[in-house]
Amino acid sequence: MRKAFHIVLMGPPGGGKGTQARLLEERLKIPHISTGEMLRSAGREGTELGLKAKALIDKGNLVPDEMCIQLMKTELEKPEAKNGFILDGFPRTLRQAEELDTLLDAEKLHLDVVVEIQVPDDYIVDRVVGRFSCVKCGAMYHEKYCLPHVYGKCDACGGTQFMRRIDDNIDTVLSRLAKYRALTAPVLPYYESVGLLKCVDGTGTIEEVKEKIRKVIGH
Ligand code: AP5
Ligand code: MG
Repeated sequence: MRKAFHIVLMGPPGGGKGTQARLLEERLKIPHISTGEMLRSAGREGTELGLKAKALIDKGNLVPDEMCIQLMKTELEKPEAKNGFILDGFPRTLRQAEELDTLLDAEKLHLDVVVEIQVPDDYIVDRVVGRFSCVKCGAMYHEKYCLPHVYGKCDACGGTQFMRRIDDNIDTVLSRLAKYRALTAPVLPYYESVGLLKCVDGTGTIEEVKEKIRKVIGH
């Protein structure tokens, strides 16, 4: 059996975290845990917390730490978390990083590696504004860089309906990027100081970035 592998993917909005997390999930057979996806799904379900989160997300603001920590606690308590996971979009503040350590300690787990996907600001708007995804399975596409092989048909599930995120517009992306620089980038030195951080240049093609991640994580 493969050794458990616990990984965090960090990087700016549109940096390729979700794309690479899905590829890692497929290859390593460990769950992809995205707080962004969980919060959007709660918003679609219309729960009180989901609607509160949606209002913040749609404007490019972060959701309160407490709400995200609670979501993560539920995920980490699931038995499958013991075999590994890929965290995408969490932790996103220093407080979340510290709470993650506490949650992992309680479950007798530890992180193996934190990968920062580095993408310069001038790539971000282009990546985010061109993104769309399959309504049925969530597979991610881009109108210039990653189109389905057959026009209008999802490669992964054959679905024919696609959607765009409300927060994928220029104004909101700039606000998300500012939040990333101010609140999330300071988490990187936290992981560097304990020797967990590996940096990957995220400007190549999806396949090239996948290969670079494979090399730095050694899996
Ligand atoms: P979240 O969903 O995590 O959004 P994000 O961090 O802004 O990141 P994105 O999902 O926009 O980008 P990505 O890095 O996944 O890139 P992708 O692979 O899609 O969070 C959304 C919101 O939820 C936050 O703003 C916040 O409000 C809230 N939230 C979530 N977690 C939170 C937390 N922990 N605390 C507080 N609030 C939280 O790629 C983008 C596009 O580029 C795609 O179209 C893709 O096909 C394309 N692409 C990918 N790689 C390449 C490449 N190498 N070359 C060319 N194109 C590429
Ligand atoms: Mg994402």
